[in-house]
Amino acid sequence: KNIALDTTKAVQFLKAGTVEAYEPKVKAAQEALENGTCEGNDFLGWLHLPSEITEEFLNEIQACANTLREKCEVVVVAGIGGSYLGARAVIEALGNSFAWLVGDKKNPTIMFAGNNIGEDYLAELTDYLKGKKFGVINISKSGTTTETALTFRLLKKQCEAQRGKAEAKDVIVAVTDAHKGAARAAADKEGYKTFVIPDNVGGRFSVLTPVGLLPIAVAGFDVKALVKGAQDMEKACGKDVPFAENPAAQYAATRQGLYTQAGKKIEIVCNFQPKLHYFAEWWKQLYGESEGKDGKGIFPAACDFTTDLHSMGQWIQQGERTIFETVISVETPNEKLLFPHDEENLDGLNFLEGKRVDEVNKMAELGTRLAHVDGGVPNMRVSVPQLNEYYIGQLIYFFEKACGISGLLEGVNPFNQPGVEAYKKNMFALLNKPGYEAESKAIQERLAQ
Ligand code: PA5
Repeated sequence: KNIALDTTKAVQFLKAGTVEAYEPKVKAAQEALENGTCEGNDFLGWLHLPSEITEEFLNEIQACANTLREKCEVVVVAGIGGSYLGARAVIEALGNSFAWLVGDKKNPTIMFAGNNIGEDYLAELTDYLKGKKFGVINISKSGTTTETALTFRLLKKQCEAQRGKAEAKDVIVAVTDAHKGAARAAADKEGYKTFVIPDNVGGRFSVLTPVGLLPIAVAGFDVKALVKGAQDMEKACGKDVPFAENPAAQYAATRQGLYTQAGKKIEIVCNFQPKLHYFAEWWKQLYGESEGKDGKGIFPAACDFTTDLHSMGQWIQQGERTIFETVISVETPNEKLLFPHDEENLDGLNFLEGKRVDEVNKMAELGTRLAHVDGGVPNMRVSVPQLNEYYIGQLIYFFEKACGISGLLEGVNPFNQPGVEAYKKNMFALLNKPGYEAESKAIQERLAQ
């Protein structure tokens, strides 16, 4: 069984034949990806990444993960953007919602840092780590990203101070470029274990490289099953799979149809499982950075339901009709919780007695779908049999493949992100970073005006 896409409640908002008319363009996009003839063709390493992953490589990841698991009660994963969100998406989707509180004895606590410059955040983190046996996975492809580098310096010093330099060396791992960048230089000098981020895999497509796989393995999840799910979806979304049966092709064509022909400029990915919050964050980066350029692109948004039905529900039901929804729906929860009987029935909820909580959730989901479609919101649904490594692997590859196709349909290079540099340039100029003297002068003059 695979994850499944249902577009019926979206295509009803389009003229008949709209999605089918995309078939030749989708085929051309798929050929361009396969043949490496599209823009951004130096970043296509993700396309057949799942089927290229070897057992030996996964064993190496697992061996390193086991060392960190044995030696650390806490592992801090330092990284930002594509060097962060994939790992967090999977770990939060699969883990106990209260892992950091319940003090899971079997697995180290995973913490994330290097994804912001919040002084309070970092002060509180370093305070929490005092006296703890912690390790660090420093993830940065460029090896020079400010947020991550700044955090890593703090963590490295603290780890060495608490465990001694020799022991720290065994619990600090770098995931970075094979040759370039400060993270590589530090790792080589200190003798850290390292994993390489392939040149031809961009950050937001890198969750199935050590960027995602190492932290996921450290957290105690089965990376082999994750990769197997991605491999099976690579086949299900392959270029020879007929258009009507190819979920990535259908998703890409439907969303582009909604965008260009029905004025639906915002896509909201919704879940009815709070564990999928960070999966949606990962998805937002994947689609936002891939499609938002050249003055174009569907704005990727996300809501956690039913939580956000009590905050964003009004807007979605009756606001500007420029949105469509893609619901990630989990068929069967991993746990079972039955609603209890109450003699007094003061809350009037005895009609739910004996039902699984998920039955209520499913009716909320169906009710929401009907209401939003009635309100003019096209709805796609990706159903996932269960939240486990295998199906999360499928979801990852499905969204990646659809993203590549969709970006090419839109007519942009889906594999670059030139716009991300603008804020960095200003920040470096404002901080008088060596090498930015001219920019510093110009920005100070601009601010003085
Ligand atoms: O998708 C991207 O390229 C970005 O989100 C990067 O992953 C992010 O900026 C982090 O970059 P780096 O891995 O070089 O530290």
